[in-house]
Amino acid sequence: MTVLIRNGRIVTASDDYTADIVVDGERIHTIGRDVPTAGHAEVYDASGLLVLPGGVDVHTHLDWDFGVARTADTFGTGTMAAAFGGTTTLVDFCNQDGRTPQAALEDWHGRAASACIDVAAHLILTKISEQVLIDMKSLIRHDGVPTFKLFMAYPGVLMVDDATIFKAMRVARDNGGMICMHAENGPVIQVLIEEALAAGHTAPKYHETTRPSLMEGEATSRAIKLAELAEAPLYIVHLSASEALAAVTEARDRGVPVHAETCPHYLFLTKEEYERPGFDSAKFVMTPPLRDRHHQATLWRGLRTNDLQVVSTDHCPFCFNEQPLGMKYSKRQGVDNFNRIPNGAPGLETRLPILYDGGVRQDRISLNRFVELTATTPAKLFGLFPRKGTIAVGSDADIVLFDPGETWTIRAAEHHSRVDYSLFEGRKITGRVKKVFLRGKPVVDGDKWLGHEGGGTYIRRGQAGRL
Ligand code: URP
Ligand code: ZN
Ligand code: ZN
Repeated sequence: MTVLIRNGRIVTASDDYTADIVVDGERIHTIGRDVPTAGHAEVYDASGLLVLPGGVDVHTHLDWDFGVARTADTFGTGTMAAAFGGTTTLVDFCNQDGRTPQAALEDWHGRAASACIDVAAHLILTKISEQVLIDMKSLIRHDGVPTFKLFMAYPGVLMVDDATIFKAMRVARDNGGMICMHAENGPVIQVLIEEALAAGHTAPKYHETTRPSLMEGEATSRAIKLAELAEAPLYIVHLSASEALAAVTEARDRGVPVHAETCPHYLFLTKEEYERPGFDSAKFVMTPPLRDRHHQATLWRGLRTNDLQVVSTDHCPFCFNEQPLGMKYSKRQGVDNFNRIPNGAPGLETRLPILYDGGVRQDRISLNRFVELTATTPAKLFGLFPRKGTIAVGSDADIVLFDPGETWTIRAAEHHSRVDYSLFEGRKITGRVKKVFLRGKPVVDGDKWLGHEGGGTYIRRGQAGRL
């Protein structure tokens, strides 16, 4: 059974041309011009639309236990939201959480079974014994989990020390893996938090003042030095600050294999959001926090010069009011103490359109670069390419038909995530996802949902960090 997508403007990281795509089963079979329409099970006219590879988001926290809270989206709701936003593959964080990595991964697989799009896992390692270092090898080689997130922040909860980081980096290096680093100086931040609370500074805005960009820069630079000594590839997650980007740029200029992502909220929002009246600013409490406006110009420069290679969401949704039934807590638990506000924000449904509107349409990045940042490079860096991340013969037929001219307004009420707010509520943007195909099957058609829970598949990834 074949499907024909006709007359679309196909955009990949390197090409931009009008052609027809024939999908046979789950894969792209043919790309050509004037393909006859007869004999296909379905024919779609993509005239006037961009035909993009399905987005690849390598940073999500679905149904994620953060100790004090649990994210609001299940794999079912989060991946449906992702599909409506043009993302067809995500790599989600599985938390070790005091268990063996295998036990944690088994639990993650149980929850991820309801995914509507394709999913893969990273492991967050918080307790790294000699046995866990051994386990990392089989996770990479047998389970298709080549990436591990380590935290230099959240002492006593998620943080690991430099010696542990160094050991894990060497195991990753020798086995085709890569460490993903949350780079902030946790112990210093802890001092600042305690001082702020002692001074009676409890409002959400003190989340920002206690997590200075200088301490993101310090930790980024320390992580890079550790990776350099270990001769291991490194990926800095959710980079928000000029100081951190300067460290990445300096290392990359010397040929050190350091990679980094930023997120839409750091590109389009600033710390002014923390000045909102009342508790509303808690919606913007994520880590790292939103920064001063001057950091944004540096981030856009980094995206253009390839010192930043990926834009991912860090989708970590906690409801502002009540979490849905059965879910633990919301942002409200920090109403009297900013340090109790669950850290994280939603973003899966808006990543592509908001970056298209604010990046491509504003001439900050090219259309090819947009595809590279949201699909191709994440797929390459995280062991998913060429199955994912491009439109090519033999690749999975994960295809997004995108209208570059439609103007619409972002409203959480119209979203598919279970979270009850959007960071970009009320923003008018141009560029909208119209149709989405997952391995050849339509899952989104305008505002109609055609996918289903369990329609996604687990992707066993190959080596990571080797571009
Ligand atoms: O605030 C955030 N980013 N929460 C999710 C956990 C993390 O550090 O990625
Ligand atoms: Zn993090
Ligand atoms: Zn995260």
